[in-house]
Amino acid sequence: MDGNGRWAKSRNLPRTEGHTEGEENLARLVRVAVKKDVGWLTVFGFSTENWVRPRTEVRHILGLHKKLFGRVAELNELNVRIQWMGRPFDSPEARTPKYVQRAIRKAIADTANNTGMVLTVAFDYGSHAEMVHAARAAAAEGPVTVDTLGAHLYLPELPPVDVLVRTSGEVRISNFMLWQSVGTEVYFTDRAWPDFDGAELDAALALVR
Ligand code: FPP
Repeated sequence: MDGNGRWAKSRNLPRTEGHTEGEENLARLVRVAVKKDVGWLTVFGFSTENWVRPRTEVRHILGLHKKLFGRVAELNELNVRIQWMGRPFDSPEARTPKYVQRAIRKAIADTANNTGMVLTVAFDYGSHAEMVHAARAAAAEGPVTVDTLGAHLYLPELPPVDVLVRTSGEVRISNFMLWQSVGTEVYFTDRAWPDFDGAELDAALALVR
């Protein structure tokens, strides 16, 4: 969800306002995606590399994740099941603070029975960390193969990515779902994340529908 900072800057607002609008837009887009029969929506909320950002910005983004995982009533109304993926809370490298962990756990439990779209939020997530984690776990059990490694990804039930969306004019791949992105279509747009709307989602989905 690139471009929150630039969206704010272009309006003479602090970067944090861009993130706030980014979270609001995610809530809007979840609603739109459900209407368009998207089965799985996975978003990159915060990476293993993002911790080096200024402390006030990190704190603000953490608060927004708490807010997002607090949207249980909306998710239940939409029949959306929320999940999280990232460095496991009990691993030595994990950075997710306890209060965000609690919000995540509660939202997962409170939406567990929903049968519609699955919204997965990647937080404290990096594809490299995920693949190392999966390779170690697979090796502890036996020979490492595509199947055994794949079975130890953070969320093995996530299907391969059909279409990857990159906003805000970034024409490059980042440390996101690399294992799951074999054969994936990529939709690049100049729009900043807070302006990514239903028409943009249609254009991305048109690559695979
Ligand atoms: C990318 O824009 C945004 C982030 C790294 C922050 C995380 C995303 C949000 C807060 C929006 C969705 C909210 C939740 C809670 C999942 P950037 O800061 O890299 O912007 P720039 O590229 O313009 O500097």
